[in-house]
Amino acid sequence: MKYICSLLFAMMLLVGPIFAQNARKEWALDEHWRFSKGDFEKASSTTFDDQEWQEVTVPHDWAIYGPFDEKHDLQVVAVTQNGEKVATKKTGRTGGLPYMGVGWYRRNFDVEGFDPKQQVVNLIFDGAMSEAQVYVNGQKVGFWPYGYNSFFFDITPYLNEDGLNNSLAVRLENKEQSSRWYPGAGLYRNVHIRVTPKIHVPVWGSFVTTPYVSEEYASVNIKTQLENVPEGTDLKIITEIMDDEGKAVAVKENTQKLNHGRPLEQYLTVNNPQLWSPESPNLYHAQSTIYIDDQIVDKYTTRFGIRKIEFIADKGFFLNGEHRKFQGVNLHHDLGPLGAAVNHSAIKRQLRILKDMGADAVRTSHNMPAPELVELCDEMGLMVMVESFDEWDVAKSKNGYHRYFEEWAEKDMVNMVRHFRNNPSVIMWSIGNEVPTQCSPDGYKVAKFLQDICHREDPTRLVTAGMDRVSCVLDNGFAAMIDIAGLNYRTHRYQETYERLPHSLVLGSETGSTVSSRGVYHFPVEKAAQVVHEDHQSSSYDMEYCYWSNLPEDDFALAEDYDWTMGQFVWTGFDYLGEPTPYDTDAWPNHSSMFGIVDLAGIPKDRYYLYKSVWKKKEETLHILPHWNWKGREGEITPVFVYTNYPTAELFVNGKSYGKQSKTMDGTLQERYRLMWMDVVYEPGEVKVVAYDSTGKAVKEKMLKTASKPHHIELVPEQDAVQANGKELAFVMVRIVDKEGNLCPQDQHSVSFKVTGAGSFKAVANGDPTSTELFHVPEMKVFNGELTLVVESSKEAGEIIIDAKARGLKRSSISIHSK
Ligand code: GAL
Repeated sequence: MKYICSLLFAMMLLVGPIFAQNARKEWALDEHWRFSKGDFEKASSTTFDDQEWQEVTVPHDWAIYGPFDEKHDLQVVAVTQNGEKVATKKTGRTGGLPYMGVGWYRRNFDVEGFDPKQQVVNLIFDGAMSEAQVYVNGQKVGFWPYGYNSFFFDITPYLNEDGLNNSLAVRLENKEQSSRWYPGAGLYRNVHIRVTPKIHVPVWGSFVTTPYVSEEYASVNIKTQLENVPEGTDLKIITEIMDDEGKAVAVKENTQKLNHGRPLEQYLTVNNPQLWSPESPNLYHAQSTIYIDDQIVDKYTTRFGIRKIEFIADKGFFLNGEHRKFQGVNLHHDLGPLGAAVNHSAIKRQLRILKDMGADAVRTSHNMPAPELVELCDEMGLMVMVESFDEWDVAKSKNGYHRYFEEWAEKDMVNMVRHFRNNPSVIMWSIGNEVPTQCSPDGYKVAKFLQDICHREDPTRLVTAGMDRVSCVLDNGFAAMIDIAGLNYRTHRYQETYERLPHSLVLGSETGSTVSSRGVYHFPVEKAAQVVHEDHQSSSYDMEYCYWSNLPEDDFALAEDYDWTMGQFVWTGFDYLGEPTPYDTDAWPNHSSMFGIVDLAGIPKDRYYLYKSVWKKKEETLHILPHWNWKGREGEITPVFVYTNYPTAELFVNGKSYGKQSKTMDGTLQERYRLMWMDVVYEPGEVKVVAYDSTGKAVKEKMLKTASKPHHIELVPEQDAVQANGKELAFVMVRIVDKEGNLCPQDQHSVSFKVTGAGSFKAVANGDPTSTELFHVPEMKVFNGELTLVVESSKEAGEIIIDAKARGLKRSSISIHSK
């Protein structure tokens, strides 16, 4: 400790004056962009007049403002991965939104104090959709085709000599039929300027690993790359490791002669490390200072975590020595009503809702995630499978990534791995999803090429791929070659896969694909694949799925019954724009998915409580479905299901008992995880369940009531306060309730909103996959009594006032504090 303190003191003395000249600077280019759809011959030129263009703030998704129309990217195709042989009209496949075409973004920026001899300036894109061509001061600085990846360009030689008034222009182009879901459009992720000293640690230039981890101590290896250093230079690096509270827990000084560009390498020991896990997401920072001739040349900080991941044959996945099963979900990148435009608070809300359900992992299907997502997973405690591609060299979509694969795959993989290899939440890489290449005789070679890149760039993590052609991949060596065999669905082939592969482990890389619409129930209640109903909705009795998929119980049982299953990633955590299966074939206006455990508005469907009852066994879940408002169903059979962590419950309707039900291993898989009363006769009134624990003691009651007529609007904010930073979002649940406050579960009133004071209206969503009402118009119909309102804080603190009104209902008003 004494040594640490004196080193720190010595460093403080040194850092001050010298470092001031060399200090790194980074900022986001978020405001004051000009945008226009369409192509313009001279738009890259410094003198181009963009005054007529729309002023926008980045992240920006040009397509989310609609209008919805089936003609947008209408695809007449046979979806071969779903077994289709004949081309049909696929409506809403990419969301029915105008994402296609060319769009330009322009703005100016200054690099104050710019010195081209002493500094390097990088322009970093967290993602740009897509085929980005970037111009600085009229000159082309680069091209990056894949819309989901992060990339950067050294723009030092292109800047004006004084660093001021540089023009930046970005041309983006989305081809139709380039996606299987809504990709978003434009500069939908953040853009940054990073100014560093000439000799500097490059973008993603550090690599922290923890080769030895125990409760007593951890060994931390840090490799720090340096740029623009002449061969043979004597370098010194001092790295301090700080814990979550900013306390130094280790420090180390090393010297090295720069040798063939080899990174500076250090080993530090952290005693009694606070390990990272979903339950305790402890983080550390490695703060490195690099010296030449005792002069500081650069400082670089890397956030990391200390944890041990192991995949043990026959035994499964272990984190920090503890066996666990992934309780994961797949997530597409869109944020429902916000489209693809990244927003920190919207991602945080998604992850909070998932964690509250008991989820501990996310697969970023089927592309590189926004950095905000991975950082939040580090902080909140969710493990991440970072995935790169939905297709390789063989097409899935006519204009998909296969057009670029040969030239760009390695560059894309390198950026992905370097970007996220220091994030403790990332526990494996996925090189692809259901790529048709899995059935090519030489497919394994392509897989090996990609897997080898992961191993080269990050020898600490294993690689998987989501495979759906089980016969192909077991027969042709493709699955055996990949580190971890990930199966998409095909639960009936897990056992065979386990037996035939050398790994002796099976991962459910994609599971479920159960479909439901929040608050919609169809009769009779039957388990069935690929059902379509007249109302274009799927039933929330959670008995409907796709012919290639299954109900949640198959996956629960596999995880519980076999050590060698590693758990699952459910398709999907949230509904997303596009892929409205099973209403995808000439079925407009459906344009968003029904797979989500949570709907597009972020409101949990009934299924949420089924997952919670299994994934969060120690927390109480007692959820009754369906709602109890069935005008016209009096006297008809209306089954009641209860999702609960308790083994037994008794059901009463208006005081009459329908008897006790217990979960059982002797019936169907549904009977193992749900309590179901199939012969209940509907009569308005009260449905009550009394739950019993395993000793037979009544422990909890829950009641559901028939609502009377809609009376008022209830506004329930998800948080009391937001930060006055012009970016943070507050989410407000909007519910139509009767006089007593019971939800009116079939209400479809249109509600309009006025937001004043220290914030503004941002968006509204109701989770109805058939609704073509626009998200950015402050009026929308509730879907089965509910919707979600999104408001954005302004930069000034104060009260955000929200007024809601609907014809014939008592209006409502609340305020949210912005500070
Ligand atoms: C899978 C595919 C996903 C999604 C899902 C729907 O086969 O990997 O992207 O399409 O089916 O069930």
